[in-house]
Amino acid sequence: NVLILDFGSQYTQLIARRVRELNIYCEIHPFNKIPDNVETFKAVILSGSPFSVRNEDAPHPDLSKIRGKVPLLAVCYGAQYLAHFHGGKVEPSQTREYGRANLSIIKDKEMLFDAITENSQVWMSHSDTIKELPENGVRLASTHDVLNAAYRIDGEETFAIQFHPEVYHSTDGKQLLENFLVKISGVEQEWTPEAFVDMTVDELREKVGDDKVVLGLSGGVDSTVAAVLLHKAIGKNLYCIFVNNGLLRKNEFDSVLDQYKDMGLNVKGVDSSARFLDALAGKSDPEEKRKTIGRVFIEVFDDEAHLLKDVKFLAQGTIYPDVIESISVNGPSATIKSHHNVGGLPDFMKLKVVEPLRMLFKDEVRRVGAEMGIDPELLGRHPFPGPGLAIRILGDITPEKVRVLQEVDHIFIQGLKDWMLYDKVWQAGAILLPVNSVGVMGDERTYEKVVALRAVESTDGMTADWVNLPYDFLQKISNTIINRVKGVNRVVYDISSKPPATIEWE
Ligand code: XMP
Repeated sequence: NVLILDFGSQYTQLIARRVRELNIYCEIHPFNKIPDNVETFKAVILSGSPFSVRNEDAPHPDLSKIRGKVPLLAVCYGAQYLAHFHGGKVEPSQTREYGRANLSIIKDKEMLFDAITENSQVWMSHSDTIKELPENGVRLASTHDVLNAAYRIDGEETFAIQFHPEVYHSTDGKQLLENFLVKISGVEQEWTPEAFVDMTVDELREKVGDDKVVLGLSGGVDSTVAAVLLHKAIGKNLYCIFVNNGLLRKNEFDSVLDQYKDMGLNVKGVDSSARFLDALAGKSDPEEKRKTIGRVFIEVFDDEAHLLKDVKFLAQGTIYPDVIESISVNGPSATIKSHHNVGGLPDFMKLKVVEPLRMLFKDEVRRVGAEMGIDPELLGRHPFPGPGLAIRILGDITPEKVRVLQEVDHIFIQGLKDWMLYDKVWQAGAILLPVNSVGVMGDERTYEKVVALRAVESTDGMTADWVNLPYDFLQKISNTIINRVKGVNRVVYDISSKPPATIEWE
């Protein structure tokens, strides 16, 4: 397996994803927690970092158990780190070294640049530059502005590159990673969805044995794939609970429940809409709404889990981005929104946790789901927040507002599907605003609600941009909503990016 040591770069996860795309398994660990068994890894990659090696607080890990023992590829900060502390020289760059550059490759007996042609485009992002190579350093490539764009250390399988092979704009970046991992380090490309399913099913059987497992289904991709995987491993001992919190999309509870049953899952649908809506009555603060929904969910789930006798395990659809211990450069980040589904369940349930997807990225979860024959439509569903429509109804929530928003949302989402736009959008939904506006219908003055439509493109929800939906489409949807949904007389389209806005309005 491959180890990626994280120095806090925004691109660290991208390195892991590129490695996984090569069907190679890898793990990210913080630079200050090098695993004890590091010699057993097949290769190590050092990430970039927002720090300068010349800064006193900069990461300063002890690589003595790695260098010369395990093949090493140092990226950006990693490359500077090797130079700075081992006899080379790193200084602030004279010119800006951000963005595109082209490589001039020095042919060498090493295979790092195999199948990569002269002038290959790479992506630079650094403000320091390596002036002198470290001891035994041999230059492998330069660019117009960066003399030491790549080097190796004589007598070791240690390589260093100043550019970022993991980003899309480094055209041959994946080839370079493949050269390092496969040709130089001899790592096998065995990490396929099929192999993952086989391995995980075996592990789950081993871990769970004949015990019962309970799992909360949400209708989303992660919990569904986790359920199908567990079902494959332990069959009828998996008990799924799907809670209707009254804040799902129109008809979603029934249609998703039917789909789960068709898939052979042992699932109980629990309609607790009234319990949630009662608890939410009169609450208009977004965080209070989230916390209320989280609390009621735990109560409902706990009641249901207690009805099942002798359950020993709780399964969750946690995925890798939630697990990676990230290096925080500026201290703990401020809570912008508390995502209730990360909280977990109370201690008194005393269940052991199984998380079969905890090492997978989202795209891998989808591939694993496809491998197990899950309906592509279900796998392609947009993300939907745990608190559902509650955070899309600004202000307090009433059953009537939920009904109105469900109708609007349904017209919008169905429209996206009919116009073949659904798969081009990462997430979409409608927001019910707490204002009335004046309109005219027939000869009557109206004074009714405003709804906003939101559709964004994103890869992980961390940053997002609004989608340039066709005017014809927006016109049609707006007309349909105003004509069909009583109580709404105005539709607006949200054209804010994240940051500075967020995807949800609350
Ligand atoms: P924001 O609004 O923070 O949303 O830009 C980013 C992504 O997270 C989802 N989201 C939530 N998901 N519980 C969830 O399970 C929440 O409380 C929550 N708030 C936002 C949002 O839908 C988007 O995909």
